[in-house]
Amino acid sequence: MVPCPFAAATVLLLFRAGVLGFPLGQGPHSTTGCGYKSCPETQPTMLNVHLVPHTHDDVGWLKTVDQYYYGERNDIQHAGVQYILDSVVEQLQQDPARRFIYVETAFFFRWWRQQNAETRKIVTELVNQGRLEFVNGGWCMSDEATTHYSAVIDQMTLGLRFLNDTFGPCARPRVAWHIDPFGHAREHASMFAQMGYDGFFFGRLDYQDKKRRMEARDMEMLWRASESLAPPTADLFTGVLPNGYNPPAGFCWDQSCSDPPIQDDPNLEDYNVDTIVQKFLKVANDQAALYRTNHIIMTMGSDFQYENANLWYKNLDKLIRYVNAQQSQGSKVNVLYSTPSCYLQELHRANLTWSVKTDDFFPYADNAHDFWTGYFSSRPALKIYERISNSLLQVCNQLEVLGGPSSRRGPHGDGDSETLRRAMAVAQHHDAVSGTEKQHVANDYAKRLAIGSAHCQVLVSNALSKLSGSDAPRVYCESLNISVCPLTESSDEFSVTVYNPLSRPVGWAVRLPVNGTRYSVTDPSGREVDSQVLPVSQATKDIRRDRGHATNELVFQAQAPPMGFRTYSVSLLQNWPPRAPPLPGAPLFLKNKYLSVTFDPDTGLLSSLSNLETKQTVQLKQNFYWYNASMGNAESLQPSGAYIFRPNSSTPVPVSLTAKTRSLQNPVVQEVYQQFGSWVSQVVRLYEDSRELELEWTVGPVPVRDLFGKEVITRLDTSINSSGLFYTDSNGREVLERRRDFRPTWVLKQTEPIAGNYYPVNSRIYIKDGEQQLTVVTDRSQGGSSIQDGSLEIMLHRRLLLDDYRGVGEALSEPGEYGDGLVARGRLLLTLAPPAAAAETHRPLAESLVLQPLLSLQAGRLHPNALLEFSGLQAALPPAVHLLTVSQWDGDSVLLRLEHQFQVKESQTHSQPVTVNLQKLFSTLTVVGVSEMSLAANQWKDEMTRMDWKGSTGEKPLQKEQRDPSTWEVTLKPMEIRTFLLHIRR
Ligand SMILES: *[C@@H]1O[C@H](CO)[C@@H](O)[C@H](O)[C@H]1NC(C)=O
Ligand SMILES: *[C@@H]1O[C@H](CO)[C@@H](O)[C@H](O)[C@H]1NC(C)=O
Ligand SMILES: [Zn+2]
Repeated sequence: MVPCPFAAATVLLLFRAGVLGFPLGQGPHSTTGCGYKSCPETQPTMLNVHLVPHTHDDVGWLKTVDQYYYGERNDIQHAGVQYILDSVVEQLQQDPARRFIYVETAFFFRWWRQQNAETRKIVTELVNQGRLEFVNGGWCMSDEATTHYSAVIDQMTLGLRFLNDTFGPCARPRVAWHIDPFGHAREHASMFAQMGYDGFFFGRLDYQDKKRRMEARDMEMLWRASESLAPPTADLFTGVLPNGYNPPAGFCWDQSCSDPPIQDDPNLEDYNVDTIVQKFLKVANDQAALYRTNHIIMTMGSDFQYENANLWYKNLDKLIRYVNAQQSQGSKVNVLYSTPSCYLQELHRANLTWSVKTDDFFPYADNAHDFWTGYFSSRPALKIYERISNSLLQVCNQLEVLGGPSSRRGPHGDGDSETLRRAMAVAQHHDAVSGTEKQHVANDYAKRLAIGSAHCQVLVSNALSKLSGSDAPRVYCESLNISVCPLTESSDEFSVTVYNPLSRPVGWAVRLPVNGTRYSVTDPSGREVDSQVLPVSQATKDIRRDRGHATNELVFQAQAPPMGFRTYSVSLLQNWPPRAPPLPGAPLFLKNKYLSVTFDPDTGLLSSLSNLETKQTVQLKQNFYWYNASMGNAESLQPSGAYIFRPNSSTPVPVSLTAKTRSLQNPVVQEVYQQFGSWVSQVVRLYEDSRELELEWTVGPVPVRDLFGKEVITRLDTSINSSGLFYTDSNGREVLERRRDFRPTWVLKQTEPIAGNYYPVNSRIYIKDGEQQLTVVTDRSQGGSSIQDGSLEIMLHRRLLLDDYRGVGEALSEPGEYGDGLVARGRLLLTLAPPAAAAETHRPLAESLVLQPLLSLQAGRLHPNALLEFSGLQAALPPAVHLLTVSQWDGDSVLLRLEHQFQVKESQTHSQPVTVNLQKLFSTLTVVGVSEMSLAANQWKDEMTRMDWKGSTGEKPLQKEQRDPSTWEVTLKPMEIRTFLLHIRR
């Protein structure tokens, strides 16, 4: 390990602790045990004020995660997490009554690796005595609006596993702590409940909601976070903190604050104990009026505080001493060092019945014109890169299991999955994938993902070598979306291996940039596959500029077996004439077996979509618009920025009223190319075997020479009678109903008719009436809404000229690779179906966008003995089951998560319990033992007990280590995720 740079300091700490006469574990308040057992005593007849010393350490924001760790670039922001942990550990030793909570494992992990045995021992004792308590405990404090549940579960698993491996059960956090994220997702609450947390605290909620809750003393509640999972599975006690996550005004004693310290020498001029005590008693009593029990919580800390923890603790010690001294004068206020879990335990003991919350906390506004709905779409390229990286990580995890030990060390070098796992975990932070960081930090997140991806690609190559028997080098082309791939552009003969991470066979259109005009494509049995060569579109040539020189794209439909691969051979056929360019104008319609779409001949815009199987047609006009960003006005100075969406008018401006169109049709794919002005284009695309229509949009560089920031949307105006309702998913899983200008839990005064109706769309948004449902599945997180009945809009890109005063200190104007503004490209997939059957299409469709097949390419002719087709599963899993996680845990154990991907009542066919036999799962691995775990895999399921809050009932989990053959059968109910540790033999 790294030699410890702080050895000298550590000796000093021990010495000081000895001098004070409180060696660890022997002080006057010495505790036995950790967790709830270590909680301080409280006074049942008094108001107990739980002071919670804490620091909020962003895993990247204005500085990169490593700059924050070391305290580099303090010119940007004074912050150094290493010093915080050094200082807090020293101060905790001074007095056993002192408490500290730590949250972000990404930082703690960095720090721990640098400590010597002595410090580690001290810290372990602090943890074992509950004096240093971990809360939340994921790698980061994830964003809730723009993250996908699979990546959130992974990042929580990574952090919590480190804590358990390092300290054992005393480090298991009991409380989820999302004090800073900008709105709260119901799916996050559901996940936290299933991870075993007893409660959840946060700081930010809509200002109108907060006002109402304060007046109604409804700051703490029971969140029932799933419509599908039977209570109390997804019930989570939830508390709103009184001051965000800051101390009450006047009581900040960090080195970064300027509130007066407690000056307690009566001989000195500025003696202020009486003033401070009186002020504190007033603050405490005022706060108690908003909450229901004789316990209140105060967060004593803030961003990157406690770098010199002595300042805080010295003053908190005095505060406690002097406020409690008033008790002898009849004061009924008792102040104590505490933690969120100790506060929670007191609430639980109060045995009250709490109000039940069933919707979510989006959108978040902190003032009338300050809706934090812009970040749903900020940095669209980082958002898709994070998604693609997640897909690669899942493939990498699966192949690490299937390929065995040689996948980490094989013919292609040393590979690993940890680098990408950590980079992905960092990217879930609430200033990472959210797009609310400085540009240099966004670049750092992307760089980490790229480095992690390279490590995974080596692992994947090794595993595929092992499984296929072919050691030839493999190439991964990451710019296929702009038709760049040096290997296929220059080779006459190559092979394409399609790895499918889903648990069912998938058909997928492969598009490769080429320079020939006709190719032979054969599947593993040597059969010729239908393929077509299309000219690379002008829009693609325009955005790829000097990267790549392909003139054509080879397109064919590939199939791959569940959790497995299939290899296709491609060779150039000579002497074919150049491909004909697309014909000018739009055809009247595009049509395959399942769908048809029509275009308006005058405007070139889409005009209808029909489902030919159900004989349904919807009128559908689609176009691109932008909102001019507000620069602030008389009503409010608030401009649009990285966080905030504030259009300066409710009427968006069309990029163009008409589209210039061209089209191309062949038996594999039909495409209509639409050009909207100079900076927006789209391909409307229908593949032969698709039940969905693809809209591939390209937006940028967004022009801002008119000195207006622009927020670019696409809008679909349909004949669906949606009566003010629309639907959006929560973190890619359950769907919530949204009603325009309405909130389910309070009477909304709508002050921003557009921004105040935007919601996060992680994977889908839809509108419906009695007969028809139009669903749009997205390839990344975006903001979306329905501003008029029948209309759906999705924000695709944003380029802004002003900062929005939330700290980032930069205008969101991404330069892109060429410095003239970022161009973003992505896909929306449209389906039309009767509402009762819609989920049967959009669930698997969204899943196949999240877990995309991975293409690897090999130059030249295939080795004659190479295995060209492989499935890691004995058979496809039932359609309702999603293979969420297959990941190597350690030597002979594998983490498996199975998920029921339908909600209750969502599908007549699939919203039913479904059973999977774990022994009949894998084709090459024998499962010899199984233990069920909590969702984050840091606790055995049968040891998992949660506080029951009034109204809740229990359910029996599977027993630990079941080897009885009958228990290999695992039943999943709608929306249930079950987590298993499998002991395997190869
Ligand atoms: C909690 O309150 C209920 C009444 O709502 C009562 O029946 C029960 O005994 C109480 N439990 C405890 C531990 O005080
Ligand atoms: C937690 O870590 C301990 C070792 O510290 C280990 O024995 C135990 O199995 C771990 N628990 C889980 C659920 O992984
Ligand atoms: Zn933060």
